[in-house]
Amino acid sequence: MATEFSHEANQSPATAERRAEILANPGFGDYFSDHMVTIDWEGDYKTGGTWYDARVHPYGPLTLDPASAVFHYGQEIFEGVKGYRHADGSVWTFRPEKNAERFARSAHRLSLPEMPADLFIESLRELVKADEAWVPTGDGEAFYFRPFMIATEAYLGVRPAKHVQYHVIGSPAGNYFGTPEPVDIWLSTTYARAGEGGTGAAKCGGNYAASMIAQIEGEKHGCKQVIFKDPHRGDAIEELGGMNVFFVFGKENKIVTPELTGTILEGVTRSSLIQLAKDRGMTVEERAITLNEWREGVANGDITEVFACGTAAVVAPIGKLKAEDFEIPAPTEHFGEISKSLREELVGIQLGTVEDRHGWMTRLI
Ligand code: COI
Repeated sequence: MATEFSHEANQSPATAERRAEILANPGFGDYFSDHMVTIDWEGDYKTGGTWYDARVHPYGPLTLDPASAVFHYGQEIFEGVKGYRHADGSVWTFRPEKNAERFARSAHRLSLPEMPADLFIESLRELVKADEAWVPTGDGEAFYFRPFMIATEAYLGVRPAKHVQYHVIGSPAGNYFGTPEPVDIWLSTTYARAGEGGTGAAKCGGNYAASMIAQIEGEKHGCKQVIFKDPHRGDAIEELGGMNVFFVFGKENKIVTPELTGTILEGVTRSSLIQLAKDRGMTVEERAITLNEWREGVANGDITEVFACGTAAVVAPIGKLKAEDFEIPAPTEHFGEISKSLREELVGIQLGTVEDRHGWMTRLI
């Protein structure tokens, strides 16, 4: 049975002028729409529990007990999903069931309750119904949903919390990096994002917290993102602080991306690009790709493009790789043909201008 959401309208929403000003230049993650969604859960992680009190209410601060487990043991997970405005005014989202599945896998890893996929998708629909006016129409823009779950039980013993809250907030979003130009990235040799048996495949705040110190190191060297490698697997490349990575071998009509080892996040954009590339008859390899292969591939011209991908970043070209004592230059065609055309096809499907032959789109309103 569909969950009933209660509704409390925001009595002081942003004015139409303020909203228009924000939508004219949304950036990424700076502004939030007038409402949010909250659903509570109570129960026992091992035996089950109940989701209740689903509500759409004004966006605003949360009041939480300072003993809430999330503040102490970091029981938290999140997702990133986008809503796209189509030419006829309708709003659609892309493969939300994939995000719902990953949210459930992340929940399992963090001993949080698994939310049913239909409730997850319904929560997105409820938010965008309330805040439809916040969905941008500009090129490359979307309404970014940020669903997240936190352990709210006030208890300091270390065990899965018996009270949990799920929220969704929404933010109009433009280009993640603020530029379509290739971004240089920093290779972290001091820090790891994830380890075997750890939480690398889960979308939990802790992974991102652990990546920030390396990102700061990168920023000091003029890099906007950091990339991690696994020294135990011959310096195999893993992923960026918040995105997956692809290498284009142009002459071979091939793309290569690190395989999912349990320490890498299974990106929805990643798996969609793999499918689109296969549809074009390209060779796709999910395998270990090492720093040496990257260095040599760029030097001998086999690697013609490198790009990052994710819901927020879509497909973003990577320029140089910088490290403490060496650099790998940008491939000759650093945002070349293949990444550009994969991006165009993907964005076209999302915006409804390219045929959705895999049935990836779900209409929200
Ligand atoms: C996303 O791509 O949606 C993410 O959650 C990554 C983050 C860097 C914004």
